[in-house]
Amino acid sequence: MTRPKKLLIVAGARPNFVKIAPLLHALRDAASDDFSACLVHTGQHYDDAMSKVFFDELDIPRSDIDMGVGSGTHAVQTAAIMAGFEPIVLDQQPDAVVVVGDVNSTLACSIVAVKLGVPVAHVESGLRSFDRAMPEEVNRVLTDSISELLFASEPSGVENLQREGIAADKVHLVGNVMIDTLVKQREFARMSGVQSRLGLESKGYAVLTLHRPSNVDRGSSFRAVLDALQTVSAKFPIVFPVHPRTAQRLESSGLDERIQGLSGLKLVPPLGYRDFLSLQSSAAMVLTDSGGVQEETTFLGVPCITLRENTERPVTISHGTNVLVGTDTDLIVENVTRVLAGEWSIPDSPPPLWDGQAAERIVAILRDNLT
Ligand code: UD1
Ligand code: UDP
Repeated sequence: MTRPKKLLIVAGARPNFVKIAPLLHALRDAASDDFSACLVHTGQHYDDAMSKVFFDELDIPRSDIDMGVGSGTHAVQTAAIMAGFEPIVLDQQPDAVVVVGDVNSTLACSIVAVKLGVPVAHVESGLRSFDRAMPEEVNRVLTDSISELLFASEPSGVENLQREGIAADKVHLVGNVMIDTLVKQREFARMSGVQSRLGLESKGYAVLTLHRPSNVDRGSSFRAVLDALQTVSAKFPIVFPVHPRTAQRLESSGLDERIQGLSGLKLVPPLGYRDFLSLQSSAAMVLTDSGGVQEETTFLGVPCITLRENTERPVTISHGTNVLVGTDTDLIVENVTRVLAGEWSIPDSPPPLWDGQAAERIVAILRDNLT
């Protein structure tokens, strides 16, 4: 009888939890002598609203190992994760390390694993914004360049990896694990009741999320977005679950007084997954700079106005649910007006392989490839 393959599954930040949930479930459902999974939480995100709520709602088992690294500059955080992860790999002796997405935890754990001779499997591989000023782009390019198994969520990922010279037999187009979670959680989200708690009517509000450093750490960009929000919220309610980075920047820049003065803009703390999914599902539109939210709105068929100059998820644009507007005040208002006027047609079906089965495909490939 063969020994089960031991996998270390790494998660650190909010979007990671949404991505690892279906992987852990698919591994749990696989034959027990195929895999043993050990979940490592780096602690990059640690507030209950950014971490614990996802474990509770998404049926993620308690992490086996909590590193508790916390916040810091890029170098401090990345180094702390590396230093903490190395003894874990030495102790656990895994057959592979599985990382997801593009956060600092993704890159830090990949480097450690590869240097100890442990293969890395990267889920959500190949996405490129072609903007190296974005910390996530550096994390993506470096992680992909040292991964052994690369799982892409959309065709652009495969094309980008091919162009970067990654061997085709390492690359697998499997679909989108974030959508696996959405498909599974949709029925629970319908019961969330968040709209009545916030006094919102179905399709009678917009949702906003903002946390990219290029938007919130730069005063001029943040002010340009606020100018647009002021115009829009005067005629249409906006609900804004505020990311901790953004809350901090609002306070330190003195913009918090201005934003709290906008009566049509409702600021709330970061929401749990089900509340946020419910909010997105019934929104007239979403304004965001999040990567995952661009994808979720594409699946849900909700118009998404992306407050960025580029996206690493071009399928959301070609599909017709997403537009890029940067921080151009007029362009933001113009697109909101277009949605409210009903001038935005939404396709019926999601992109190929965004079907709730991506994690099962990944587990099947892991089974075939980890010898
Ligand atoms: C990180 C990821 C980003 C991802 C985002 C998802 C990197 C480089 N960035 O950005 O790609 O889109 O997570 O949300 O990995 N903080 C808290 N409580 C927490 C976590 C953070 O208060 O639980 C505050 C801290 O002051 C911290 C700041 O938020 O300094 C930023 O956190 P950090 O993890 O460095 O980056 P994010 O902006 O969250
Ligand atoms: N999300 C959430 N509550 C919120 C905002 C976002 O549950 O208040 C979820 C969202 O549905 C998606 C994920 O968090 O599944 C996206 O994370 P985030 O925007 O922080 O990161 P990104 O995708 O930009 O890396």
